[in-house]
Amino acid sequence: MNREAMTPLIEVVDLKKYYPVRGGIIPHTTGWVRAVDGVSFSVMRAQTLGLVGESGCGKSTIGRQLVGLESPTEGSIFYDGRDLAALQKKPEEMRQIRTKLQMIFQDPYSSLNPRKHIYEILAQPMLYHGISQKDTVRRDIRKLLNMVGLPETVLGRYPHEFSGGQRQRIGIAKALSLNPEFIVCDEPVSALDVSIQAQILNLLKELQKELKLTLLFVGHGLGAVNYVSDRIAVMYLGRIVEYGDARDIFVHPAHPYTQALLDAVPIPDPGEKDKPRRLLEGEIGSNINPPAGCRFHPRCPYALPLCRTQEPQMQKIPSGKTALAAGEHYAACPYCSNIKEKE
Ligand SMILES: Nc1ncnc2c1ncn2[C@@H]1O[C@H](COP(=O)(O)OP(=O)(O)OP(=O)(O)O)[C@@H](O)[C@H]1O
Ligand SMILES: [Mg+2]
Repeated sequence: MNREAMTPLIEVVDLKKYYPVRGGIIPHTTGWVRAVDGVSFSVMRAQTLGLVGESGCGKSTIGRQLVGLESPTEGSIFYDGRDLAALQKKPEEMRQIRTKLQMIFQDPYSSLNPRKHIYEILAQPMLYHGISQKDTVRRDIRKLLNMVGLPETVLGRYPHEFSGGQRQRIGIAKALSLNPEFIVCDEPVSALDVSIQAQILNLLKELQKELKLTLLFVGHGLGAVNYVSDRIAVMYLGRIVEYGDARDIFVHPAHPYTQALLDAVPIPDPGEKDKPRRLLEGEIGSNINPPAGCRFHPRCPYALPLCRTQEPQMQKIPSGKTALAAGEHYAACPYCSNIKEKE
């Protein structure tokens, strides 16, 4: 791997995003939704980081902060070493950087203007940002469509005239149209049926390789996320509980929450159907009043008295336990290694 690939394009340091909760007869702020509550990670250049966790744990909120749709409550985001908050004071530089940070949404319909046909949807931003000129834009759009596997005949049609899979391809073309370096793919296949999911995942994988894109791939389950990711971050209630090399995490999940997520992945091999599975019970807790200590402790089958009071810090999981242990691996559970020994 060359040196450039080993440097992070995106670095997130202690990111927090709190939303006000309004209540009372005279509406006022009665509390805060701690959607993201102190998260740090980096995304290596030309690699994919998978972000996985249950609904409501804060994945999309992280995505929105990374592409500049919202500003963090606290913490920093560095793009290619530049602090995005400091760039707010330099609008022209910020405008250019925004084009480099794009997002693909779960429901592309919501990100495509229903009153515009596909040509307008793709051409307008390209012309506005000077990516293309009037005499070259049609040629550039043709290239884009070719990349995402759509024929040129789609250009005169409106978003509602497409199937979900085709619409997602248009969403991908739109994200690619401004020559981005980094794309947040926010559950891009969750709304599609299984056969189409595989096509879109493969398309994203190919494009990532071909265009050397850096991706944050958000998903609910570890199956699809593992398929496309180099590294994985597992989130629970606004915090990252495990982070590391995708293969390492998939084969040797350390945190009890990751183990349960992995056990929820369907097994295609009928011979393994009787394998004991640790299924999650209860619901993800409140992010207004998160549980004290380890946020996962009310659902953790291994919780000890200490877990109710002490917030666990990320610690390195010893690698090299097996031939597959390839890279860095961290988990926020002081009992991870003991759990493994007990099993
Ligand atoms: N603008 C907002 N105002 C108030 N609360 C918000 C806002 N946006 C998100 N939230 C809350 O922040 C938390 C995290 O939401 P987010 O959409 O990031 O979750 P998610 O992990 O993407 O979930 P899903 O997998 O269902 O998409 C949720 O409790 C949500 O209700
Ligand atoms: Mg989401």
